[in-house]
Amino acid sequence: MKKWIFSLSTISILTLQMVAQKPIYLDNNQPIEKRIQNALSLMTTEEKVAICHAQSKFTSKGVPRLGIPELMLSDGPHGVREEICWDEWDPAGWSSDSCLAFPALTCLAATFNPDLSLAYGRAIGQEARYRRKDVLLGPGVNIYRTPLNGRNFEYLGEDPYLSSKMCIPYIKGVQENGVSACVKHFALNNQEFDRNTINVEASERALQEIYLPAFKAAVKEGNVWSLMGSYNQFRGEFCSHNNYLINKILKQDWEFDGVVISDWGATHNTKQAINNGLDIEMGSHTNGLSISLSNSYNQYYLANPYLEALKKGETSVDILNEKASRVLRLIFRTSMNSNKPWGSFVAKEHSNVARKIAEEGIVLLKNSSNILPIQPSAYKTIAVIGENAIKRMTLGGGSSALKVKYEISPLEGIKDRFGKSSEITYSQGYASGASMFKKVLKCKMDNDSLFKVAIETAKTADLVIFVGGLNKNHEQDSEGGDRTSLNLPFNQDKLIQEILKVNKNTIMVLVSGNAIAMPWINDVKTIIQSWYLGSESGSAIASVLSGDCNPSGKLPFTFPVKLSDVSAHSFGEISYPGINQNQEYKDDILVGYRWYDTKKIAPLFPFGFGLSYTTFEIGKATIDKSVCTANDEVKLLLSVKNTGKIAGAEVVQVYINDEKCSVLRPAKELKAFSKVALLPGETKLVELNLPVKEWAFYNDKTSKWEIEPGKFNILVGTSALDICQKIIVNVN
Ligand code: GLC
Repeated sequence: MKKWIFSLSTISILTLQMVAQKPIYLDNNQPIEKRIQNALSLMTTEEKVAICHAQSKFTSKGVPRLGIPELMLSDGPHGVREEICWDEWDPAGWSSDSCLAFPALTCLAATFNPDLSLAYGRAIGQEARYRRKDVLLGPGVNIYRTPLNGRNFEYLGEDPYLSSKMCIPYIKGVQENGVSACVKHFALNNQEFDRNTINVEASERALQEIYLPAFKAAVKEGNVWSLMGSYNQFRGEFCSHNNYLINKILKQDWEFDGVVISDWGATHNTKQAINNGLDIEMGSHTNGLSISLSNSYNQYYLANPYLEALKKGETSVDILNEKASRVLRLIFRTSMNSNKPWGSFVAKEHSNVARKIAEEGIVLLKNSSNILPIQPSAYKTIAVIGENAIKRMTLGGGSSALKVKYEISPLEGIKDRFGKSSEITYSQGYASGASMFKKVLKCKMDNDSLFKVAIETAKTADLVIFVGGLNKNHEQDSEGGDRTSLNLPFNQDKLIQEILKVNKNTIMVLVSGNAIAMPWINDVKTIIQSWYLGSESGSAIASVLSGDCNPSGKLPFTFPVKLSDVSAHSFGEISYPGINQNQEYKDDILVGYRWYDTKKIAPLFPFGFGLSYTTFEIGKATIDKSVCTANDEVKLLLSVKNTGKIAGAEVVQVYINDEKCSVLRPAKELKAFSKVALLPGETKLVELNLPVKEWAFYNDKTSKWEIEPGKFNILVGTSALDICQKIIVNVN
């Protein structure tokens, strides 16, 4: 008996010692906030400062002495970027980092399907986790203000409500993998022209009603763990250390408990970086004097200069502890979260998700002669024309570019789907000089002969599929430069017009992340808006062309007829692109359809527009209350019927119009949408909830969201212009 008690007490002492030896910050069963306080109590000032700035291109320091790992960050929003050298922008040349490329976020927005956003986040989060990344630098949610912006393809369109609803599930999906999403670029980074320096002035209403909602949704509903400050200035302060945006709005009003990371090179000032809420300084070369220094990271604004300020008592250790706490919280949520899954890489499930999003995001803009869907054996010869049929679109575009395991080109997809029943010919038609594959495809022929050969190819074909658009080269949908025209580049308009003269049976497949002008619109019967669709591009395009998939995408931004119709381009250079690094958003709250519909400017194709191979009927909508208060929620019920012969999906959209208000309000504002899949002849009931408080406008005099009592029109439709019903509600 004695022996037994002796051994029991020995075990309990050992266990106690074991427990005593394992400090709280290492114990995954301890609450994160306790782990943070414990780690802080053990860290030196130097160690706290060290975790607040980069130590290499894409990592920030951990605390080696305490076994706290460094933070591994990676681009980007559409897939996990290839490994980059430790301290150079060059690829590291790994052989194990070829990823799966998901469709660009513009395509995700065009699905109007939050379920696919969750699937997207989960899949890309698994890829990031497998690649041992703790922070995935996406999603980008900047609003589509001008069709010239080089990075619109990375974002979710012109409407704050759509951008909000489509970024939340993506963020949750990524973070389920113990990987932090990083919502960017906060804020008002709506163009690439002069992005590193330009100072944006915008009204409080435009800020709160248009440019911040998606970020607020990412924080309040998506619970995003990190956020990237943008390059530009807002009201005279750089956004990566902007007191109003970060300290007041993000951290105080929105109670953001994550980490603010600067864009790469977006930090300009130690004092502001310390006091205005920047938590990790990435990528900058500080004062520009230390670029060539080896390990210039110690020169960063939040590095030695920060230590100096602390030693001189110019800043309090409380602010340092607040920064370090946030960084530790991010580490405990990601790399030191021992419950996190293991991820997977280029898994078949990821390809399926990528293809599903691509198929559901493609928008059918025109099909007036029902050429689509293509009946496989209907055409003996199908001519595919255009460089975008073979151009690798996972390359280019800037930091979101990817090294992929595979990418099915539109030509490959078309050959695979139609090659058995038709002869497929190909003609490049034009050469952009873009890097096609590993090398720049040096064309044997000059553009004139490419042009002539393409016309000959079109002449002899029974059907032409033109695959053109933009190509993620500089000023053609890429970071670091805006387009200089709304028109298609590389003489494509002329080529399209000549092709149409010799063959009326022509399908236009536009590959882009932006709206383009269509001078040939009246001569073309069939237009598909395809996005940068990633690895499964060709299979998704062929699937829609063949009718294997019935297109259900809707435009996440308006296609204007001409650039001067665009609100940002209607108030002179100060509005776009700015004058001497200064810019005023004079379009204010009238962005996108809020402008066109209020000013009654007819767009080429409206926001929310997209056709189907079948037809739908929206039944009479009813609401559960026609008198309400700001605290109510109006429930709208309606039926949707598939009145055609093939399965398809429709997106019911609900806008509100505040008919009489003391301030200017747009003709309509999207406040609910629902995508409904229907078999031929099937009818489904759709319920849409409309919290009345979301109908408010931001009163910049009271700094509050307000609703003025009175009549509101609820507009039900299938695009911003296809409004089929109006229901009146009175708000008390
Ligand atoms: C770039 C981009 C940002 C990217 C970062 C790292 O300049 O603005 O989106 O995540 O630097 O590549």
